[in-house]
Amino acid sequence: MNKIIQGDALEILKSITDNSIDMGVTSPPYNKQENKKGWLVRNVKYDIASDKQSEEDYQEKQVAVLNELWRVIKEGGSFFYNHKTRWEQGKMLHPYEWLNKTKWTLRQEIIWDRMIAANIRGWRFWQTDERIYWLYKPKKDHKIGKELLSKHALLTSIWRFPPERKNLHPAPFPLTLPLRCIYSILDESKGTVIDPYVGSGTTLVAAKLLGHNYIGIDISPEYIKMSQEFLKKTNAYGSILEQELSKHKVSMTFEERKKSGKFVGKFKTASKLDFSTTESILSLF
Ligand SMILES: C[S@@+](CC[C@H](N)C(=O)[O-])C[C@H]1O[C@@H](n2cnc3c(N)ncnc32)[C@H](O)[C@@H]1O
Repeated sequence: MNKIIQGDALEILKSITDNSIDMGVTSPPYNKQENKKGWLVRNVKYDIASDKQSEEDYQEKQVAVLNELWRVIKEGGSFFYNHKTRWEQGKMLHPYEWLNKTKWTLRQEIIWDRMIAANIRGWRFWQTDERIYWLYKPKKDHKIGKELLSKHALLTSIWRFPPERKNLHPAPFPLTLPLRCIYSILDESKGTVIDPYVGSGTTLVAAKLLGHNYIGIDISPEYIKMSQEFLKKTNAYGSILEQELSKHKVSMTFEERKKSGKFVGKFKTASKLDFSTTESILSLF
């Protein structure tokens, strides 16, 4: 436990025992073709892995990796897969195309509103969203699974926080992202979290901050070193953890709202509509 393994994600995953891991979070390479997609910014380039394959090979490999993840995650476990919609020669490439070919039950598509992004051209409106797919491995055939606690579920399906800026890895996600995924699923219980494309180690730092065990994989020895350094400094990120935990709070659970008649599913006529917090939105019902 608590290790980072250097190698190809698919090959390393094959050596991990079935049903041994509670959950995972990752952002794979996006197969962005390393083309010039804008005048203003440099493209993402990893130190070893090429992000340029035929789209068919890329999707096939992602399906194989996701199916291995399905095998190693416990029944009732979850995996959060960060990706985005891309276009090649004008054709939209949506992650659903390959997610739908895996063994996972697609539980939700979350929009990550990152507010800013490096790809600036006018072919389409400035794409500042990414997606986070919540993938679920059912217990027996129970595809719906367990309900989230109200304090997590009320965070809504649109997650708004900026991308990471201080990290030296070319494509890190912000610490808030894996913190939110892991805390919402594991809450106060303890488990093991995996990231098969670990990069600078953000998922592992989130797991450690929340008191879980972790396993990371990356093809690049340099990024593994980066992860090890990041893990040594986990204590410096306590304020980001506190900030995220402070969002997972509600004054009433769904059950209590229903009992007290404060959640009847219809908008009240209110003179002032306040959409600034989850609590203020709930008070409109
Ligand atoms: C988008 S980055 C992940 C960034 C990470 N979420 C973070 O916050 O730093 C994708 C990572 O996948 C790694 N990678 C690419 N191909 C791989 C492969 N076949 N097996 C394992 N890792 C690979 C790259 O080296 C890169 O670090």
